[in-house]
Amino acid sequence: MNDRLHPNKGFKALLNTLSRLVTLVIGAILVAVIFLALPLITNSGPAQYANINDHFKYASIGGASTNGIPYWVWKVLPVMFPEKLPGEGYESLGFIQEPGHDLPIGFARDTYLGLDMVTQNCATCHVGSLRNTPESLPQTIAAMPSNTVDLAKYIQFVTTVPFDARFTAQEMMPQIEAIGADFNPLEKLLYRFFVIPRSRDALITLASKLAFIDLESAYGPGRVDTFTPYKTRQFNFPVDQLRAEELNGIGDFPSIWQQRPRQGMQLHWDGNNTSVDERNNSAALALVSPTNINFDAIYRIKDWLLDLPAPTYPYPVDAALASRGEKLYTNTCASCHAFDGEYVGTVVPIEEIGTDRHRLDSYTKELAANQYTLFTGISYQGRDQRFRHFRKTQGYSNHPLDGIWLRAPYLHNGSVPTLRDLLAPPEQRPQVFYRGYDVYDPEQVGFVSDVAEENGKSYFKYDTTQPGNGNGGHVYGTDLSEDEKAALVEYMKTL
Ligand code: HEC
Ligand code: HEC
Repeated sequence: MNDRLHPNKGFKALLNTLSRLVTLVIGAILVAVIFLALPLITNSGPAQYANINDHFKYASIGGASTNGIPYWVWKVLPVMFPEKLPGEGYESLGFIQEPGHDLPIGFARDTYLGLDMVTQNCATCHVGSLRNTPESLPQTIAAMPSNTVDLAKYIQFVTTVPFDARFTAQEMMPQIEAIGADFNPLEKLLYRFFVIPRSRDALITLASKLAFIDLESAYGPGRVDTFTPYKTRQFNFPVDQLRAEELNGIGDFPSIWQQRPRQGMQLHWDGNNTSVDERNNSAALALVSPTNINFDAIYRIKDWLLDLPAPTYPYPVDAALASRGEKLYTNTCASCHAFDGEYVGTVVPIEEIGTDRHRLDSYTKELAANQYTLFTGISYQGRDQRFRHFRKTQGYSNHPLDGIWLRAPYLHNGSVPTLRDLLAPPEQRPQVFYRGYDVYDPEQVGFVSDVAEENGKSYFKYDTTQPGNGNGGHVYGTDLSEDEKAALVEYMKTL
């Protein structure tokens, strides 16, 4: 009896074996899943840069969960949809690709749920390019305006692709693998069933929020409407209910060096904020949301910008002529524009300054009231980040003019190509000129503005008759003699 198997016992043994087998199989599957998910689990946190210039140009300032585009989707878009770009790749939109870097300046690697994401940072709008001659290699300069970047065209690109019938996992996966993605089976499943469909939905939502761009004058390189995306993205103002008189508030990208002496000044083009911290945080909201902003990354930039000097003028200056110009500057310009000027960093009423009013009108009391709700309850290093300093103003601000030689085209909407043109009476300033070209013109002081095309690349034709593009007003210095203007401009090279 003992060595005979009891039928029940035999059944139990079988069950035991089976359950051991099941446990083993489940265990094996778990191990495999964990193994496959390892790249996702260990892939946490953005790339770090020891060098502050690299940090500025390439580090993420947050935003992966709300504004990021999955890395391989971002990479494959220009490959799959080249017909929607003016030339080859993202560079054809004016983004600068430095050798040895995977992404152009202004784009950053970050992670979200373990997935590689591409986010954007301050350098998208605040790093520019300069060439001495058409044959010279371009130099990239941090904190100057991004003079070559056509942000509206980039937005139009990423918001039209999701409507293309080829934006499907089926079409995209083979192309993504062809450009070098080496997915394991789990990542493949994730991309196919989650990442690609979600990216498409997110870009379609973005398209609806930014649809106002089609209602506005073309921005061209180096310009953006600052506050309308704020209204539609942060506060969900419906695009079809935006008031016509608040559209076309198109601003030139400013330089952002030397922030310390700007503390307490009324800045932004219309002087709507006196706090450097708030201007930095507000700028970040173009790219991140208050809940996923990376304060460590932004405050590192902020601290660096406080004392970053404006670049010195790299071409010859006629010292005797400049010294004559200095006197003219002191008498006619310094009260509004020198760091110690009586009025610097205050607002000149629109009736007096007389420049295009669209940017001023795009910023409203209603928007200010909404902004006060931002960053409520969020603090960094013990400092409450809630916005308190935004104010509706009635004119444009007197900015300090440090490094002004590199800040062309001039005025808040970038409507006047060179310093010499700004000193001409408004009716004699160029009505049409080209933007986006980075070769310098030391005679007129600004970028060369009459090149429509070079080596197959077309530049943006700026038409001052379009809404938001007016080049009138700011008549200071226009009645000086030709000699005096030459002297004044010579001096301004040294600011
Ligand atoms: C999408 C383009 C864009 C990005 C990205 C961007 N900025 Fe700006 N920035 C602008 C524009 C345009 C203005 C002018 C705003 C206005 O008054 O209309 C500006 C203004 C500023 C100012 C105020 C300058 C002045 O003197 O009036 C500071 C400071 C600034 N940005 C810092 C930053 C920082 C720091 C970041 C990254 C966290 C950043 N910006 C990201 C476009 C951008
Ligand atoms: C009463 C104050 C005032 C005086 C005087 C004045 N400006 Fe201005 N300036 C402004 C204001 C305000 C703006 C901004 C206007 C705008 O962008 O719409 C400005 C803008 C500028 C800009 C463009 C800045 C940029 O970043 O694009 C330059 C250059 C400039 N002024 C040069 C001069 C020169 C040169 C003189 C003397 C001949 C002068 N200004 C006299 C108030 C003044």
